[in-house]
Order: sequence, then C-alpha cells, then structure tokens
Amino acid sequence: MADSLIELHDLKKEFDGTPVLRGISLDIKSREFVTLLGPSGCGKTTTLRIIGGFEQPDSGDVLFEGRRLNDVPPYRREINTVFQRYALFPHLNVAENIAFGLHIKKMNPAEIKLKTREMLSLVGLSGFEARDVTSLSGGQQQRVAIARALVCEPRVLLLDEPLGALDLKLRKDMQIELKRIQQRTGITFIYVTHDQEEALTMSDRIVVMNHGVIQQVGSPTDIYNEPENAFVADFIGESNIIDGVMLEDRKVEFCDREFECVDSGFGHNTPVDVVIRPEDLRLVYAGDGLLQGVVESIVFKGVHYEMMVRTEHFTFTVHSTMAEPVGKTVGLTVIPFDIHIMHRSAEAQA
Ligand SMILES: Nc1ncnc2c1ncn2[C@@H]1O[C@H](COP(=O)(O)OP(=O)(O)O)[C@@H](O)[C@H]1O
Ligand SMILES: [Mg+2]
Repeated sequence: MADSLIELHDLKKEFDGTPVLRGISLDIKSREFVTLLGPSGCGKTTTLRIIGGFEQPDSGDVLFEGRRLNDVPPYRREINTVFQRYALFPHLNVAENIAFGLHIKKMNPAEIKLKTREMLSLVGLSGFEARDVTSLSGGQQQRVAIARALVCEPRVLLLDEPLGALDLKLRKDMQIELKRIQQRTGITFIYVTHDQEEALTMSDRIVVMNHGVIQQVGSPTDIYNEPENAFVADFIGESNIIDGVMLEDRKVEFCDREFECVDSGFGHNTPVDVVIRPEDLRLVYAGDGLLQGVVESIVFKGVHYEMMVRTEHFTFTVHSTMAEPVGKTVGLTVIPFDIHIMHRSAEAQA
C-alpha cells in the first residue's frame, strides 16, 4: 500500500521451540497512533522489538516505506523507543538527558539548546532544564524520557507500556498528554499495553493480539461495538460468554432455552459463543425474566453496581444502577439486538 509507513509481513518467531508470533501482518500509516493490545505473553513486546530491530524474526519481513528493514541495525532505523523502565542518566540534569542524542550527532550547541527548549515545552517541563533528574516525580521522569526520544525527530516512536509504573491518576493524565504530543508532532506512535481502557482512550487503531495471533484490527469503536470473536469481546469489555447453539437464523439456544437474536448465516444447530455485555442485561422481577437467578455478590463500581447473578447454567455479570441484595431471586432480560453470536475459534479461546 502506497501510504503505509511500516508493513509487517507474516512475522513468525519462536523462543526455545515455542511459537510466540504465528504470522503477524499489519500495515501502519504515517501519523497513526496504533496500539498493540493483548494479555501478558501474547507477543506484543516481541513484535515491537522486531520493528525496532532489537530482535530478528524467524521468517517474515518488516518494510519501512516499502523498503525491507530486516538487516538494518536499530540505530540506522528512523525509529526510537521509550521503554517501561526509562533509564535516565542520573548524573545528568534534565536538559543534558534530553540533549544526549543531539550531542552524539554533533549538532551545534545553539541548536541543541533551542531543540531542548522546544521539547521541554512540548512535554510541559519548561523551566526544568537544570533540575536533577533524581529529584523529579515518576511522571516528570517519564516526560523527560519521552522528550529524549522525540528530540532526534524519529519518524516512528515505539512505546512499550510506558505508563505502567505510574499510579492511576498520573497514568490518566499522561495518556491525554501523550495523545496530544502525538497529534502535535505528527510522529507515528506504536504503543504497547495490556490495558484495554488505555488502548481505547488513545488509539486511532487497536490491534488485539492473543497467543501470537492478531485477533482483530480496528478503531476503538469498532473493537468495542463489533468484536469479531469472544476473546476480543471478553478482553475489551468483561462480557458474559455462554456456550450456545445457533438453531437457525435469528434463533439461538443457551441456558436450556431459545432466544430470539438478530444474527444469521450460521447454519443449523451450529455451536457458537453467545456474548452479552453486563450493561445489556436488565434486572426485573423474578417472574418477568427470560432467565431467573440468585444474586451472589454485589460491588459498587463508582457509576454502577456489578452483581454476579447465578442461574441454573451460568453465572452472569450484570451492571446496573439498581442494587439488589445478595440472596435475592431476580429475573434477567436482554433484547435480541444485545445478544451477540460469534463463531467459536480455537485460537480465540484459551
Ligand atoms: N528472549 C526471550 N527468550 C525466551 N522467551 C522469550 C523471550 N522474549 C519473550 N519470550 C517469551 O515469549 C512470549 C511473548 O513475550 P512478549 O513478546 O514479551 O509478550 P508481551 O509483551 O505481550 O507480554 C512470552 O511467553 C515470553 O516469555
Ligand atoms: Mg511486554
């Protein structure tokens, strides 16, 4: 594709005989904020390290503007990396840390000063030039690390769980900050996280991975609203995933009864995964529900209550602004539109 900045073609990688990447293919466009999202061990860091040139794939190619990059060493790639453990130089002050790469490039001192100032302003640390990096907070240190990576004007910035060490409040602030920096600089960001909320907040596109396989690529709304399989649905939104059988078009059986749904094209009597989001289940009087169950637990989550409701065949997670006491028998309903039918996929499970 003409407008792809980076292309990954069928990357495969094993460690000690165990496949870690099983054919990763992806196009990343210039100025895009792309996030690799998936559980720990799914191969995100390995993919990032291959893009950065720190790791070689067993097979497959990495292209940069259509040119094969495999044999180009990391320092010759127009790519820079911010790691989770951003090692700043403790004996250098803030400005010296940021300017380090420019000194290596032998840029003239006036220009270095100017660029360092620009970077400090970009990351919201103007006036911190002479500060000792060890006196900075975690969030401030992370900003210095980002400024240091950006000052050399890479075309692409790789970020591997860069906010993982920060507390929740700071992480939220930095998410917004990073997105702003990405938009202002126009640098392509390839971001790695296992935190779905972080991915949904920041990304133009999300690549959901599991067991070294891409499960789905799409915008945050695509991924949230139209998960392609039960793994994605579960990973993105804590769904209820129930074993079911698609009896015929628009008719599915689960929990020992038939439900009307809106999906079709699954054939007859096909085993499927039935996905229902916790916020799509409604609590009603026991007699009025499509299903009946007992409230097993209730936790207040800030905006809603999360209740576990045990029915004969399945324990549902239910989100509601209404609280029901533990032990009470309640009814559950769901409208056909909110019953999502998904193909069972071997790779998607686990
Ligand atoms: N250098 C290595 N040697 C052996 N196994 C590795 C190495 N790097 C990663 N792995 C294994 O590969 C799998 C994927 O790792 P990684 O890409 O770091 O996953 P993620 O970043 O998604 O958590 C894990 O099981 C990990 O233990
Ligand atoms: Mg990792």
